[in-house]
Amino acid sequence: MVPGDKSISHRAVMLGSLARGTTVVSGFLQGEDTIATLNAFRFMGVDAREEDGKLHIQGRGLYGLREPDDVLDCGNSGTSMRLMTGILAGQRFYSVLSGDRYLRNRPMGRVIEPLTKMGARILGRAGGTKAPLAIQGGELKGLSYLSPVASAQVKSAILLAGLYSCGETEVKEPSLSRDHTERMFRYFGADIEPRANGAIVRGGRELDGREVTVPADISSAAFFIVAALLVPDSELLITNVGINPTRTGILDILLKMGASIDLLNEREVSGEPVADILVRSSSLVGIEIGGDLVPRAIDEFPVLCVAAACADGRTILRDARELRVKETDRIAAMATNLAKAGVDVLETEDGMEITGTDTLRGCAVDSFGDHRIAMSMLIAGLVAKGETTVTDIDCIATSFPTFIKLLEKVCRT
Ligand code: S3P
Repeated sequence: MVPGDKSISHRAVMLGSLARGTTVVSGFLQGEDTIATLNAFRFMGVDAREEDGKLHIQGRGLYGLREPDDVLDCGNSGTSMRLMTGILAGQRFYSVLSGDRYLRNRPMGRVIEPLTKMGARILGRAGGTKAPLAIQGGELKGLSYLSPVASAQVKSAILLAGLYSCGETEVKEPSLSRDHTERMFRYFGADIEPRANGAIVRGGRELDGREVTVPADISSAAFFIVAALLVPDSELLITNVGINPTRTGILDILLKMGASIDLLNEREVSGEPVADILVRSSSLVGIEIGGDLVPRAIDEFPVLCVAAACADGRTILRDARELRVKETDRIAAMATNLAKAGVDVLETEDGMEITGTDTLRGCAVDSFGDHRIAMSMLIAGLVAKGETTVTDIDCIATSFPTFIKLLEKVCRT
């Protein structure tokens, strides 16, 4: 079974902690990233326990968190750090956020800059652009902000700070990124309205604890979708997967490449659309990808590169500069690794061009400390001729600790 959605799991812990009353989360992702968020809120006084396979969170209300007496460790998780920065900016206390060496090198100026405009006091190293971040919480004022990047983490940090601001806070982005925060705000009773490519929130309203059922993560399902397409004679049903339209770029791209993918049993669960996904082996063709489709598939490009490497013809990816500031530079990492597998890859500033081949070559590659690079290269290894070795795969536990076991199981059946 593909585990729970990472983005939704983070947000369930955050809103559950800030709400009044109990929030019960089913399907919470037990990955290192989401556990980092959970532990940070526990460290700020939130009582969260696992009972009957569900996470029970006793919310403390908007102003019920306690000042943490040590650094909050976000590990490898950009979502934990950026979203919590928005929340902590509005608290009546001081806090420090840090993380592993990869996270400490990722750009934080993109959240610090708008939050500072809202009145937040945040210091960071490298001229206020990198963690560790020191946050002196205080009063915030509303803001109307046009984000230069389509980023759900930036949008969410601002909307979360908006819960604490006087007046209205509006965020717009160049194209719509995942809208789980907006949906969950509504589900928990926040005063939020959608706007074209954005949302507007009014501060000061308390949230109410809810039952949240987290669907399987389409970003984790993606590895199995691509595996089933590439391994001959496969048929795979992945149940209960989140198909929020801001996340289904992977399906649109693969369908355009000629994939056989069907959505069954479509329904809505806790304010999010969910379906079962049926995948059958298919011959893929190269396509061009760019524009609004990119943020809708932003985490799936490593594994889409593997699909492109096995497709007939050339796949051209553009407008994907954001991939250079993920857990690693994913354009450089996939170009390096696929070249080792014998693929003709051209790296461009905002994407890459991949010419498909009949036979991937088994090879020795590195994950660059990035879970999705590790899993993508293991999927490439499934279809490659000869042995593939991927080093530094512990990072897979950040989002999908059961990946290897599940892959072994699926390959046996
Ligand atoms: C996420 C947003 C995306 C995505 C990340 C999770 C979120 O990041 O890549 O894995 O949960 O909000 P950006 O906001 O940097 O695009």
